[in-house]
Amino acid sequence: MLYAEITGWGKCLPPAVLSNADLTTFMDTTDEWITSRTGIEERRICHCNFSDMAIVSARRALAAANLDPAELDLILLGSLTMDSLCPNTASIIQDAIGAKNAASIDINSACTGFLYGLHIGTNLIRTGAHKKILVLGGEFISHYMNWAQRDVAVLFGDACGAVVIEATEERIGLLAAKIGCEADAKYAIQITNLGSAYSRLSEEFLYINWNFEGQEVFKRAVKCMARACEDVLHQLDLTTADIDLVVPHQANKRILDALARRVGIEEDKVFINVHKYGNTSAGTIPVALTEALEEGRVKPGDYILSATFGAGLSWGACIIKWGDRVTPLATTDAELPPCDKTALEILQPHIARYLAHEAKTG
Ligand code: UT7
Repeated sequence: MLYAEITGWGKCLPPAVLSNADLTTFMDTTDEWITSRTGIEERRICHCNFSDMAIVSARRALAAANLDPAELDLILLGSLTMDSLCPNTASIIQDAIGAKNAASIDINSACTGFLYGLHIGTNLIRTGAHKKILVLGGEFISHYMNWAQRDVAVLFGDACGAVVIEATEERIGLLAAKIGCEADAKYAIQITNLGSAYSRLSEEFLYINWNFEGQEVFKRAVKCMARACEDVLHQLDLTTADIDLVVPHQANKRILDALARRVGIEEDKVFINVHKYGNTSAGTIPVALTEALEEGRVKPGDYILSATFGAGLSWGACIIKWGDRVTPLATTDAELPPCDKTALEILQPHIARYLAHEAKTG
């Protein structure tokens, strides 16, 4: 029987930090509102291309696995803020890292993109179709933000993370997953003017708008993630007592607290870094997993539960049994291009454009 071990992990956070105090300089909000409703204190803003973050996290994951990129036979990239649709962005990453023997696929299921990719990749390995796969999740969401919408703009940040999975006969890696989609609520998170359904002849076409029903998403997120967690526990005949660590999608600290209560998991088993990075959509889980490893929170043989939700409304959960190794085999000096601007300086033209549009249209 084949399994898919996670042999490498890496993250890339752009250096520019946008604090809640920074947001109050151009938006009617407060640090108190943001932290009490979401737990978010700051987020990162990307100064380069999305693929630059993806390439750095890929190189770090490959170094941790000590794997020659030419040995990869597939790249799965979860994101909705790709550099480009054609060519797809996974092929840009493939070329940059020298994965010349890989096929490359972009997966757009929004925040769930990484977990979906890990599920697909694991099962391709388990069927024998592929042997070594790079799975990435990340977002350059500040690029698509409407900076005049305070109910959305305070929530998100930019980041990317990656893992390498490799075939093994040992019963480790992702052992159970459950994914799904509540499509009746698909417009509860909608980014307008991105896609061919929108008229390019409209005056409004160049302005992104987020339709965002925060409370509806909140309720469905807790319900769907809790059910998916119960499903994967049941698949492996485990209980929450068997789970050593929870590495969930980081959208909102209150959602994570509600999930832990509903599933019956002690809060100290839940890895949380949403206060530092906000919601980085498909980036949250690989970044959190990498940080959990760096902080010594993952022990050999641990059972790790992960759960996620996002636009669609897509949702999912999985259980990973960790192998023996919790440290990287090697490191790399891969870094982003230098950044000489503050987060506010990077965003200034976008903020000015959206505020001017808002003033004109109300
Ligand atoms: O990964 C998937 C992405 N989606 C999510 O993560 C969304 C999940 N939902 C949530 O996290 C929460 O619903 C939010 C954080 C978005 C909102 O929290 P809430 O407790 O549900 O607040 P609310 O929508 O009930 O808004 C309460 C008030 C409103 O004012 P009024 O109408 O009560 O006077 C808003 O206008 O808060 C106001 N408000 C703000 N005030 C200050 C909304 N955004 C802000 C803001 N600063 N940034």
